[in-house]
Amino acid sequence: MSLRTLSLRALLLLGLWHTGRRGLASAPELQEQPKKIAVVGAGIGGTAAAFYLRQKFGAGVKIDVFESNIAGGRLATVKIGDYEYETGGSVIHPLNLHMKHFIERLGIPPRMDVGTKMAIFDGKELVFEESNWFIINFLRLLWRYGFNFLRMQMWVESVLDKFMRIYQYQQFGYSFSSVERLLHAMGGDSFLTLMNQTLEETMIGEGFSQLFINDIVAPITRVNYGQSVRINGFVGAVSLAGADSGLWAVDGGNKRVCTGLLYHSKSELINAKVTSISLKVRPSKRGNTASFYEINYVGESGAAHSLYDIVVIATPLHQGKSDITFSGFNPPIPSHYPGRYHQTVATLVHGMLNMSYLGTTEPASEFTVSDILTTDSKGCVINSLSSLDPVHIPDGYKRPPASQTKVWKVFSSNSLTQEQLQNMFLSYDTLFETPWLAYPAYRPPHRKTPPFILHNRLYYLNTVEWAASAMEMSAIAARNVALLAHHRWHEQIRKIDQEDLHTRLRGEL
Ligand SMILES: Cc1cc2nc3c(=O)[nH]c(=O)nc-3n(C[C@H](O)[C@H](O)[C@H](O)COP(=O)(O)OP(=O)(O)OC[C@H]3O[C@@H](n4cnc5c(N)ncnc54)[C@H](O)[C@@H]3O)c2cc1C
Ligand SMILES: *[C@@H]1O[C@H](CO)[C@@H](O)[C@H](O)[C@H]1NC(C)=O
Ligand SMILES: *[C@@H]1O[C@H](CO)[C@@H](O)[C@H](O)[C@H]1NC(C)=O
Repeated sequence: MSLRTLSLRALLLLGLWHTGRRGLASAPELQEQPKKIAVVGAGIGGTAAAFYLRQKFGAGVKIDVFESNIAGGRLATVKIGDYEYETGGSVIHPLNLHMKHFIERLGIPPRMDVGTKMAIFDGKELVFEESNWFIINFLRLLWRYGFNFLRMQMWVESVLDKFMRIYQYQQFGYSFSSVERLLHAMGGDSFLTLMNQTLEETMIGEGFSQLFINDIVAPITRVNYGQSVRINGFVGAVSLAGADSGLWAVDGGNKRVCTGLLYHSKSELINAKVTSISLKVRPSKRGNTASFYEINYVGESGAAHSLYDIVVIATPLHQGKSDITFSGFNPPIPSHYPGRYHQTVATLVHGMLNMSYLGTTEPASEFTVSDILTTDSKGCVINSLSSLDPVHIPDGYKRPPASQTKVWKVFSSNSLTQEQLQNMFLSYDTLFETPWLAYPAYRPPHRKTPPFILHNRLYYLNTVEWAASAMEMSAIAARNVALLAHHRWHEQIRKIDQEDLHTRLRGEL
C-alpha cells in the first residue's frame, strides 16, 4: 500500500473527525448524571475508557481507575544503560486513528523514524534479506512469489477499508453490544467469516500460494502474535497490516499515552487490586431503590470498598490475567471466561550477536537488519530477533550494526535457556526477561465472544481481543463501551446495535 494513498485516506477521515460533531445534537437529558464511575485496569483500554467516559458524561462525574500494577499494562518499558526500550506493545499503524488522536490531544510527538530492514531466518540460515534498494526487493519477490505480494497488499487494504468504518460510526455516536455486532457493522458477513476461519484457509481461498503463506505470512504472524497461520483471518489481517510501511510509536514510550489519558480525563488512579465486585441495592433519595456496584479492593493501606453507578472492566477476564469474583449477579458472571492467553516471552539482551547463529558469513559490521522474522520450522526456537532502538531517539542517532554491543529483543514462546542465549550471543552483560501472557491463543472456529455488557451498567472491554489484540482495538472498544454506558444510562437505545449503518450514514456525509 503506498503511503500516499494511506495519508490521503487518513486526511479524509480526520476531516470527518472535525466536522462530524454536528451529527450529535443530544436529546434533553431527563435523567441525572451518574456520580461515580470505576474503571478496572490502567492499560491503554482502561485509560482510553476514562478519557471517553469523561467526554460523554462531563465534568461532574468522579472517575476512579484501579490499577494493581503500573499504569500502561502491556505497554511497558525497561531501562538498559542510559536508554529505555519497549518490552510489550511497540508499533502502531498509520491508520490507527484513535491512537493518533490521543497523542495529538496530549501533545506528545511520535517517535522519530529510524527506518527498518527485514530478514527471514529458518532456524539454520537467512532465507531472505531486504536490500536497501526498493527495486531489488521488488524484483526478487516478484520472481519468487509472482503477484502474491501485490495481492496481499490489496487484500489487507480491502479489509482495512471496511475496518475504518468504525471511526465514522463512533463519531456519530453509534455503539454495539457485542464484538460480533461490531464486526458485522464494519465488514458484514465477510468479517464474521474471517473470525471463523484460519488465516491460512482464508488466504488459500483468496488464491494465495502455500509457498507464499509459509515463507512470508507465517513469519509475520509469528512476530506479531507468536502464533502460526492458524490464527483467525481477522487477527491475521490485522497482523499483515502490521507489516505495512509507516508504522510509528510514541516518543518516550507508548505507555505515556496511558498516563496522559489518566491526567487528561481528570480521573483518580487508585493503586489497588480489585478482588471482587458485587451488586448492592440501596434505598434512593426519591424513596425507591437503586442498585450500585460495590468494588472491593486491596491496596497498600489494606482492604477497602466503594460503591459505583457504572463499572468498566478493562483487563482480560481469563486465567492468569485477573481473578475478580463477581457476586450477587443473576445469571452469574464468571471470574474467567473460556479460552486462554498465549505466552510470549520478551527477552531484551544488551550484547554482541553471534552472526554464525544466523548461518550467515556477512560481516557483522555491515549487518544492519532491524527485524529478523522466522519461519514456522522445527529448528526455530525463537519467533523473532530485533535490533531495538530506544523509545526516544537522540539527535544524530543511527542504528548501530551488529558488530557493536547493542540491545536486541527476542520473542519466544518459552524462556530462553542459558545454552540458547550463549549460542545466539558472543557476549552479553544485561538481560531483561518479561514473560507476557500477551494476547489470546487464537483457534478458530469461532466461539461466541463474551459480551461488552456483563450486567445493566457493568461493562467489559477486553472481549474485543478475541477479534484481535492491539492498542487500537482496545481504544475502539473503550470508545464503544463509553458510548454504550452513556446511551444505556440515558436510555437512547436507537444508538445501539443499528443495522446497515454503512449505507445509512453515506447520506449524512
Ligand atoms: C509482547 C507484546 C507485543 C505486542 N505488540 C503490539 C504492537 O506492536 N502493537 C499493538 O498495537 N499491540 C501490541 N500488543 C498488544 C497490546 O499491547 C495490547 O493489546 C494492549 O496493550 C492491551 O491493553 P489493555 O489496556 O486492553 O490491557 P492491559 O494492558 O493488559 O491492561 C490491563 C491492566 O489491568 C490491570 N489489572 C488486572 N487485574 C486487575 C485487578 N484485579 N485490579 C486492578 N488492576 C488490574 C493490569 O495490571 C493491567 O495494567 C503486544 C502485546 C504484547 C504482550
Ligand atoms: C463457524 O463455523 C462453524 C462450522 O465450522 C459453524 O457451525 C458456525 O455456525 C460458524 N459460526 C459463525 C459465527 O459463522
Ligand atoms: C555461534 O553460533 C554457531 C552456530 O550456531 C555455534 O556453532 C557457535 O558455537 C556459536 N559461537 C559462540 C561463541 O557461541
